[in-house]
Amino acid sequence: MTPAPALADDPTWWRSAVIYQIYPRSFADGNGDGTGDLPGITSRLDHVASLGAQAIWLSPFYPSPQRDGGYDVADYRDVDPQFGTLDDFAALMERAHELGLRVIVDLVPNHCSAEHQDFRAALAAQPGSHERRKFHFKDGRGTEGELPPNDWTSMFEGPAWTRVIEADGEPGQWYLHLFDSSQPDWNWDDTSVRSDFEKTLRFWLDRGVDGFRVDVCDAIIKAPGLPDWPHRTKGVVEPIDGVMPPMWDQEGIHDVFREWRRVLDTYDGTRILCAEAWLAPERAARIVRPGEMHQAFNFRYLEQPWDAESIRSSILSSLEANDAVGAPTTWVLSNHDVMRHASRYGYDGSVELESGVGADDPQPGRELGLRRARAATAIMLALPGSVYLYQGEELGLPEVTDLPDSLRQDPVWERSGHRIRGRDGCRVPLPWTPDGPSFGFGRSETTWLPQPSYFGNYAVVQQSTDETSTLSFYRHLLRLRADLGLGEGELIWDERSLERDVIRFRRGRTHVIANLSADAIPCPAGRLLASSVPITAEIPRDATVWVELDELND
Ligand code: GLC
Repeated sequence: MTPAPALADDPTWWRSAVIYQIYPRSFADGNGDGTGDLPGITSRLDHVASLGAQAIWLSPFYPSPQRDGGYDVADYRDVDPQFGTLDDFAALMERAHELGLRVIVDLVPNHCSAEHQDFRAALAAQPGSHERRKFHFKDGRGTEGELPPNDWTSMFEGPAWTRVIEADGEPGQWYLHLFDSSQPDWNWDDTSVRSDFEKTLRFWLDRGVDGFRVDVCDAIIKAPGLPDWPHRTKGVVEPIDGVMPPMWDQEGIHDVFREWRRVLDTYDGTRILCAEAWLAPERAARIVRPGEMHQAFNFRYLEQPWDAESIRSSILSSLEANDAVGAPTTWVLSNHDVMRHASRYGYDGSVELESGVGADDPQPGRELGLRRARAATAIMLALPGSVYLYQGEELGLPEVTDLPDSLRQDPVWERSGHRIRGRDGCRVPLPWTPDGPSFGFGRSETTWLPQPSYFGNYAVVQQSTDETSTLSFYRHLLRLRADLGLGEGELIWDERSLERDVIRFRRGRTHVIANLSADAIPCPAGRLLASSVPITAEIPRDATVWVELDELND
């Protein structure tokens, strides 16, 4: 496969790239079964290219029982038949590269599916066997081993341990799973686990992939002895009394990252690793030191409320932390694990969103949410570094907050005893056309998660020809970002940036002003390059503008 000329040999492409996340189940359905697939993605890649992204990141499409949306991998080196075949993957790669899009795939090294052949072998093997040492099998506490080996809780609620029935039919050892019980954690102290993952890296690199987004990479090494840790983790992980939790961000992770980096660097120097680690910028920056990964997601930024001071200080601390290690900062507002930002910002700060939103809960203000989301995106796309977009945010798509509880698929819903609703609301299949079966998602009338009737109003086709649409706004900002070279270079805070509730910074001659205050503020004279809402002489509340000031005003 010959890469498109634009892709050929730029070893620094990722430093300023806009990377578009595709959730394969929900992007486009090629075979009409109501679930997205690889041929569906291939047929719609021109949408991503015309948006102005430089790469796509594909969430997992590997064989999986889908207990956690494919993050429960049963075979790391194949394609799940519901998504297609390895040939379909090759066709996707070819089309993407032809369009100038690089392709990043998901690597899930912390855990696999209970249906992975190695875990099945471990279940069938004796305690103490090598098969069991590939995972964290331990004897329980209590006189009969009836209590879990330690007090850790799963990220999806409930204990992080499940007891197995041994060959003699009696309850026996316990295995560790930081997520669902169907997702046993690998033991990275075992060298055969390491070498098998190296084989997986090479498998996909040989098929031309441009990089890996590495799922919960900060959990792969646990503190020796698996000491008790009674605290719960939510969002960005913080040390407690100066101590990091024993399952997160342990020093040993860096050796593994360096091993992976060495593998990638034996290719052509353009392949990248991106860390999914819910860590503060100072901790995440340690993962992107020279010789380790290239990028790490910036979840601290994503977590910021709609408040100027919070957003400003998050930008500042992210840039400082990454500059200190010579890595570009990344920015993200939405992904498949969080409420879409067009809905998150549609609440005032007093509503608790951690448990998710159901039909009977207070609903987000749709207009307010979209208005702020557009303003937030216009801040993000003006920042130096690399940006991750999540499919559908370019349509201003809201979270589906009224899904029937009976259709929920996120494992956290069952594990929490129906307390936490989970992440299904951001994973509903995309609308491509204003009407027709599944709004153009595929031929089928129904989809794996139902689309609400209003989804047609957000369809790609309709927004494409409407200059005022959110899609046109994203395209415009991304074109300007490229033309003005905003992905690189310095960010200078405007002196007045300490003014309450207003964010002001300059990127070269472009001034970015976001008004998060209750009142309109004057817009400086100059050429208005972009504006998140139509404006005249003033910037109204919840709006962002990009203005090129003339030299006199500089
Ligand atoms: C990551 C994924 C999330 C998944 C979890 C366990 O956070 O983004 O979707 O549930 O890891 O694999």
